[in-house]
Amino acid sequence: RSKRPAGAPDRKLARPVTKIGVVGAGLMASQLALLFARQLKVPVVMTDIDQARVDKGVAYVHAEVDKLLDKKRIKADAANRTKALVTGSVSKDAFADADFVIEAVFEELHVKKQVFAEVEAIVSAECILATNTSSLSVTAMAEELQYPERLVGFHFFNPVAVMPLLEIVRAPRTDDAVLATAFELAKGLKKTAVLVKDAAAFVVNRILLRLMGEVIAAFDEGTPAEVADSALRPMGLPMSPFALSAMVGLPVAQHVQESLHAAFGERFAVSQNLQKLIDNGVKSLWVPGPDGTPV
Ligand code: CAA
Repeated sequence: RSKRPAGAPDRKLARPVTKIGVVGAGLMASQLALLFARQLKVPVVMTDIDQARVDKGVAYVHAEVDKLLDKKRIKADAANRTKALVTGSVSKDAFADADFVIEAVFEELHVKKQVFAEVEAIVSAECILATNTSSLSVTAMAEELQYPERLVGFHFFNPVAVMPLLEIVRAPRTDDAVLATAFELAKGLKKTAVLVKDAAAFVVNRILLRLMGEVIAAFDEGTPAEVADSALRPMGLPMSPFALSAMVGLPVAQHVQESLHAAFGERFAVSQNLQKLIDNGVKSLWVPGPDGTPV
């Protein structure tokens, strides 16, 4: 019986990946850089719009490796190697010899399209492009590419180090060799890959946002956050929905809600209240402390 995941092309089609580029050095991007370097043992270069952001991303990777070392989850030589493999640059020229470049920048279609146009001007024709988008259309992102068949969705979940699933998104023109490489990478990363269609928010976030949307709606309608939170606790969720929305980031949660609303209408209502809170700089609706009290 074949162990190939459903829908995955023949693995013989997969191309070798010897250097990876990550566009962005924010929290998701830095977590990806760490995972790639640690598991695939290949050089990973992160880029961002200024040196401070790049430095922060690289510093995050180093700090996380140190934590793993403290917990004896990684050996000293592997820790040193992982750190050395991750570098940063303010220029996308650093991607010139990469064979796989993934973007993890803000959830705006025009931003991602701009990023890919810049990346395509630098990389080779064979370089695979991937997006870590959680809700935008991969097909739309591929539209203006010179080689649209090289783009694949590669959607990780936060926290990347511990969440086992990876959604691989096939757009109508995604090449079989590109898809086969994505599945091989997933295997190297020790993630469980599932092939999903290019539909708004794919599979996981579509389901998760039903729950989150209702929690936020209850909050909007006047249910205090701590009441909603303690009512949900017996359901055995791995994390409070409020802690989860804070971890993902309210603006990202809001963007996913908008994508789902655009695709499915009132089934995914957009919270106007959430927008107001974001505009006022609120970072989390409510974060429970270890004993359930707000912090
Ligand atoms: N980075 C790295 N490692 C982390 C981490 C992080 N941010 N958070 C937790 N961990 C590690 C811990 O260090 C710990 O590792 P060790 O066993 O080596 O010590 C391990 O994970 C378990 O952590 P804890 O014991 O502290 O906590 P836990 O048992 O409550 O598990 C959790 C933590 C795995 C995050 C769990 O709470 C969980 O599954 N939460 C739900 C997360 C989720 O739903 N994510 C998807 C969000 S949607 C998304 O990703 C964004 C999007 O597309 C829009």
